[in-house]
Formats: sequence, C-alpha cells, structure tokens
Amino acid sequence: MDALKKIIQDSYVITMKDVIFEGHQTLRLVAEEVEKPVTPELLTLGERMMTFLKNSQNPEMVEKLELRGGVGLAAPQLNIAKRVIAILIPDAKGNIQFEEIMYNPKIIAHSAQEVCLKSGEGCLSVEREVLGFVPRYKRVTVTYINHDNEEKTIKLKDHQAIVLQHELDHLNGILFFDRINEKEPWAVKEGVEILE
Ligand code: NI
Repeated sequence: MDALKKIIQDSYVITMKDVIFEGHQTLRLVAEEVEKPVTPELLTLGERMMTFLKNSQNPEMVEKLELRGGVGLAAPQLNIAKRVIAILIPDAKGNIQFEEIMYNPKIIAHSAQEVCLKSGEGCLSVEREVLGFVPRYKRVTVTYINHDNEEKTIKLKDHQAIVLQHELDHLNGILFFDRINEKEPWAVKEGVEILE
C-alpha cells in the first residue's frame, strides 16, 4: 500500500515506522504542488502529521509510541512527495506558540539578515548528530493554504522562521546539513545573528 493510503486509514497513528531516513531518494525529490482545493485525503494527512507532532511532545506518548521529539514534519519524510508540512512550536512553558498545517508553503519575501540556532539543527530523518551552524533568514513572509482551504499570508521570525525554512527545504529535497559549511561548520559570516 502506498504511504498516503496507509496513513489516511481510519484512526491511523503515525509513528517513527512511517518516517524515512537520509539515503532514501524521496527526501531528495522536489515535492509536488498540492491541488486546490486541498483534497480530504491530504487534509487528513495534515491532521495526522500534526497529531504526530503533538504526540512527539507528550512524554507519555513518546514512551508509548517510541517517538523522537519534533517541532516540524514534512510529507516527504513519510515518503509522500507532496508539498505539505506541519509545524508545532511550544514556548518555554510548554504552551503552544505556533501551530499550523500548511499546503504549498512558499516564501514570497525575506530579510537580508540571517540567523543560526546556537546549537545547530536536527531532523527526524537524520539519525545522527550533524554539528554546525545552519544559516537561515531571520524573517520570512510565507503564503500557503491552511487546513480550512484558505489562502494565507503570514510573517514569521527567528525560531518560527527557522523551523518553517527547515520544513520547506524538505519539500525541495534539501536536508539541513546541506547548508552547513563543510570545512568550518561553526564559522559564521559577519552579521549573522546566533539564536539561543
Ligand atoms: Ni527535518
């Protein structure tokens, strides 16, 4: 059965068994645009992806389902080469700071200013630590279709912008370590901000 059909079955719960890892060719494809309006199948996929992120941030569910924690997931990581991502970012207190399922997300404007996360980035599809700064735009303006099939335009900055760019990269066959300077992983260009 293909991955999408499997995941949209009644009450299916996405686990790490559904995630594909570096080396799998789907992670290197440019994913296909989603047709408008978004089909019920892909709306269900988006919901299941968000449920995965919620479970991955709930200690009991992490143990029960043997999950790794995540703040974002892209459909290609489930071997579904469609432009669908889910983002769930908690604040320091564990409350939801940003939650969105996005179809066809696209950066239409960005700052010249770049930022890097102080400790680098990680990815559910990369089961090893790859150290180094991953330069990202500090601010992005993004258009997308939301889970209610509405066209949206939002501005994100800092951590939220970084997660968005990481997930958007998955839709273009790019993994975070592609953006790390191979010779000097912790070198930063002048003016790049380091975010805690
Ligand atoms: Ni990733």
